Amino acid sequence: MGRAYLILSGKGGTGKTTVSTSLALALADLGRRVLIVDADVGLRCCDLLMGMEDLVVYDASDILEDRCSLQEAITVHPEKSNLHLLSAPQMIMPGDVPKKDMIRLIDEAKPQYDDLLIDCPAGIGRGVKNVWQSADEAVIVATPDDASLRAAERTSALLFERMQLRASLLLNRIDPFLIAVKEEKRPGVIAAALDLPLFGGIPESYDVYRAVLMHKTAYECDARTVRRAVRRIARRMTGQNVRFPRYYHVPHLS
Ligand SMILES: Nc1ncnc2c1ncn2[C@@H]1O[C@H](COP(=O)(O)OP(=O)(O)O)[C@@H](O)[C@H]1O
Ligand SMILES: [Mg+2]
Repeated sequence: MGRAYLILSGKGGTGKTTVSTSLALALADLGRRVLIVDADVGLRCCDLLMGMEDLVVYDASDILEDRCSLQEAITVHPEKSNLHLLSAPQMIMPGDVPKKDMIRLIDEAKPQYDDLLIDCPAGIGRGVKNVWQSADEAVIVATPDDASLRAAERTSALLFERMQLRASLLLNRIDPFLIAVKEEKRPGVIAAALDLPLFGGIPESYDVYRAVLMHKTAYECDARTVRRAVRRIARRMTGQNVRFPRYYHVPHLS
């Protein structure tokens, strides 16, 4: 039975889609059977970031309205046959999707995959409520600034209150230089302050944005540091014991 991860955030634009798509590719590279569920109803973009926009024929609403089966609605990645995408409907609002149906859909898909990454809209509004019952884990993506972290903390509290889901923290856009000059807190320190387990960290890089422009994921970008960070998180998700870089916890000596 596959493990379903809700990829969430408090604030918008922290990198949920970047994280979902790049982790999906890295997991597929490790031989896992992966499904990305684009749950950003009305604002989908996983297809764009994976260069699959011309391949998508159906979306989740077509299954729910009996126009196609789950298998027919799934788009297979052009280069990785073990990486699949279920697109979000574009022309409706999150409130138009019946909650029970979305959960049924994800539960139906679970046995066919090792990992299901559910790329959510920001916050925990209706779009997230449509899918959160089908999740085994919640990963909050935040950037290391206080506004994003405050929103992440609030989101994790609400998730626990309402769903008894304990979230972990994925810090995106970490800047090792700013950490070295003590302007940015270390990921380990941030996670401890928020009382959340650290799921992983991804560095800031101009190459991530360049990859987006070319409809590629962060895992395919030119920055080796980003690719390695994504691969480390994916390996940890498969149960391997992968340590965090030293600077996440230990102050630089120089
Ligand atoms: N590690 C990173 N380094 C640089 N830019 C990033 C990084 N992660 C995300 N971005 C940029 O931030 C923007 C928002 O990312 P996105 O994944 O769409 O966020 P969300 O899905 O949370 O709204 C995109 O333009 C993306 O290229
Ligand atoms: Mg997004």
